[in-house]
Amino acid sequence: MSKTTVVAPANIAFVKYWGARDTERAIPFNRSISMTLERCHSVCTAEVISEERDQVWLAEPDGGFRAPEPEFDRRVREHLDRLRQWSGRNDRLWVATRNSFPSAAGLASSASGFAALTMAAAGALGKGNAPIEQLSRLARLSGSGSAARSILGGFVEWPAHNVDLNAPDADEKAFAYQIADADHWDLRDVIAVVELGPKVVSSLEGHRRAPTSPYFEKRQEILPERTRLVREAIEEQDLDTLGPLIEEESIDLHMIAMTSKPSIFYWSPGTVAVLKAVSELRQEGLSAWATLDAGANVHVICDPDSEQDVVDRLENLPAVGFLIRDGVGPGPDHDEEHLF
Ligand code: PMV
Repeated sequence: MSKTTVVAPANIAFVKYWGARDTERAIPFNRSISMTLERCHSVCTAEVISEERDQVWLAEPDGGFRAPEPEFDRRVREHLDRLRQWSGRNDRLWVATRNSFPSAAGLASSASGFAALTMAAAGALGKGNAPIEQLSRLARLSGSGSAARSILGGFVEWPAHNVDLNAPDADEKAFAYQIADADHWDLRDVIAVVELGPKVVSSLEGHRRAPTSPYFEKRQEILPERTRLVREAIEEQDLDTLGPLIEEESIDLHMIAMTSKPSIFYWSPGTVAVLKAVSELRQEGLSAWATLDAGANVHVICDPDSEQDVVDRLENLPAVGFLIRDGVGPGPDHDEEHLF
């Protein structure tokens, strides 16, 4: 049987999805905007098999395979059921996934992982040409809502907040779309990895707890204007406007996490060291801005001219394990090189 392999990138949110109105279906309180990355990606190969049960594997860099953690395994199997139902086919699948970067360390591995799984399984089930809106919507339903954005390249907006939860077509409308392609603006993302372990609390749990923060409502008030400004700064390729907005936004997300009940603290001492270094770089005249998803690692967004200076400064910090140099990318692609 034919195999389908898809490479899907991670994304870094400039306006964050934090708080779900419906955690089951990953319908957020607010719209979000992200930049799709290029080097941080997941590869997934899917093939129809004549067995009674799906086969779910993680591919190791040495060519071996291992079984995923039970929770991830469960989510993948549920997602495969969902994809079967959507495709109208009943075939079981063999799926294997590999990440190009540390999993579950706040580097959006679940977004790229579920985007790649959605597209590879859709291909194996004969729906490789499905409209991008459908694939984005399906990726969202994986539970990792931000996977909806990883289906597209460049700069992506996910406007699911205005969906009426009770409407029969609520699901249909909650997909992401591109606001500018990767060629629009060459932005770089220097990721300072200060912690390698899995994050302390899953983002799914974070979305559940977010509304318990006393500052959550205030954040919702601020977000429409901030989102508009972020979109505009992207359209105008204006880093001096975008930078402060994304840094404030990221600090707000972590403030909500820290003040939700029970509180969630993703930062580590290394996080603070990197944030301080980025602020010093700015005092020296560089345009570099920090943003973090739900984890301790820091994404430093800058233009190509500043990238080397950012790297030189951060790689000498004792708290930084290693750096990943990434940037805006064109989105998922099919690959002829299969994982099995
Ligand atoms: O898609 P999830 O459920 O893994 O949540 C993503 C949460 C953040 O990465 C913190 C923000 C975002 O919009 O990507």
